[in-house]
Amino acid sequence: MTNPTLENQVTLPKKGTSRDQILKELQASHDRDTNWHDGRTFSLVYHANDEHTDFLKKAYSIYFHQNGLNPSAFPSLQRMEAEVVSMAANLLGGGIETAGTMTSGGTESILMAIKTYRDRARALQPQITKPEMIVPISIHPAFDKAAHYFDVKIVKAPLAADFRVDVEAVKKLTNPNTILIVGSAPQYPQGVVDPIAELASFAKSKGIGMHVDACVGGFLLPFLKKLGHPIPAFDFTVDGVTSMSADLHKYGFASKGSSIVLYKDKDLRRYQFFVLAEWPGGCFASPSMPGTRPAGAIATAWGTLRAFGEDGYLEIAKACWDNTKKLQSGIAALGMEIVGKPDATIFGFSAKDVDVYAVADQMQMRGWYIDRQQHPTCLHLMVTPAHTNHIDAFLKDLKDCIAIVKKNPALSTEGMAAMYGMAAKVPDPAMIDQFLYQFMDARYTTGPTA
Ligand SMILES: Cc1ncc(COP(=O)(O)O)c(C=O)c1O
Repeated sequence: MTNPTLENQVTLPKKGTSRDQILKELQASHDRDTNWHDGRTFSLVYHANDEHTDFLKKAYSIYFHQNGLNPSAFPSLQRMEAEVVSMAANLLGGGIETAGTMTSGGTESILMAIKTYRDRARALQPQITKPEMIVPISIHPAFDKAAHYFDVKIVKAPLAADFRVDVEAVKKLTNPNTILIVGSAPQYPQGVVDPIAELASFAKSKGIGMHVDACVGGFLLPFLKKLGHPIPAFDFTVDGVTSMSADLHKYGFASKGSSIVLYKDKDLRRYQFFVLAEWPGGCFASPSMPGTRPAGAIATAWGTLRAFGEDGYLEIAKACWDNTKKLQSGIAALGMEIVGKPDATIFGFSAKDVDVYAVADQMQMRGWYIDRQQHPTCLHLMVTPAHTNHIDAFLKDLKDCIAIVKKNPALSTEGMAAMYGMAAKVPDPAMIDQFLYQFMDARYTTGPTA
């Protein structure tokens, strides 16, 4: 019997291929993927405009080979990272005492924050042997990952009817092992901002840390607020907020691999750092998860903040908001419902009379990649300036796809619709976990069957 794994194994070619040829292949593969440039993706790509994307490529390539690991070799990176942290702190209501670092993305910012609170509790509250954090059920999975990696129990608080976390439930879940309370600004599924002021005031009264996950909103909400939209208080201006995460590679429109984690002061940030004085390879000190850190991500973050400035970000926030309103009213006109009352430019939408998962499958066949959500069943859009000239096309395709699914109910038993439909019926999430593990294995299959 043949071993399918060996049969499909891709091996290092004996001889190299011309770089021109490889670049052609890369371009062709890229062009077969979803067309993010024409606004056909909604959460995976943040493209402000062509001029900015060209700028990012140039800025990244200047720093292509440098390494953010060792600032003594590259002092310019140290300066740029410190300035990025300072600009972000200032934007998010922090003062001169606010401290932070850049990281590779929202997940790493969150991992670092949880490690920081765990290590602080180990140092200052040794009586806590089983630390816990309370998060809304809508929190991003990066918090579950952090809980798993760092052995902090994650306790999930239910949401109120408006999809914001139920503050009374958070209070009831708090116990002497609680080291951290978390809220999002906004949360991913419905785009609403949790009641940060109430959570922070409670956390402070109990001497517990309060983290705001502003990975989505950090570089968006301050500008929507300046434009006059009613954005609830969510940042360091709220008494009791002790740390925040904010992604430069989302609504900051920097290149991928850039996010910020901020703390109320250096004393708290100290627990994030890792140092090892006695390594034979020299004294080692590292701010976050990786050793080697891509310098291009630091340079492009710094360049992006300066290139847009407040005026540029206000313009972007306006485009995102206008696009969102146009999409929301177009979707409502098709008989679908916006889920809750989103605070920003990210939202879910559902329908009572059509299987939205099957609609998403049909949209995908037309080149639109839309995220599917559950509890409640809905689809999800995260809106950027890349959508500006494509909303009419989106709404037209959506209308057609709704009609197709209504006419063909069997479409619910095919594709992703079948998977989500099945997931909704499986009583034990552990069974779906098994499926997801298989899905992950399949992701690394090579060869003709891949
Ligand atoms: C609210 C929120 N927090 C954190 C993250 C994680 O960010 P990343 O994908 O950069 O790790 C996301 C990603 O979508 C998010 O929406």
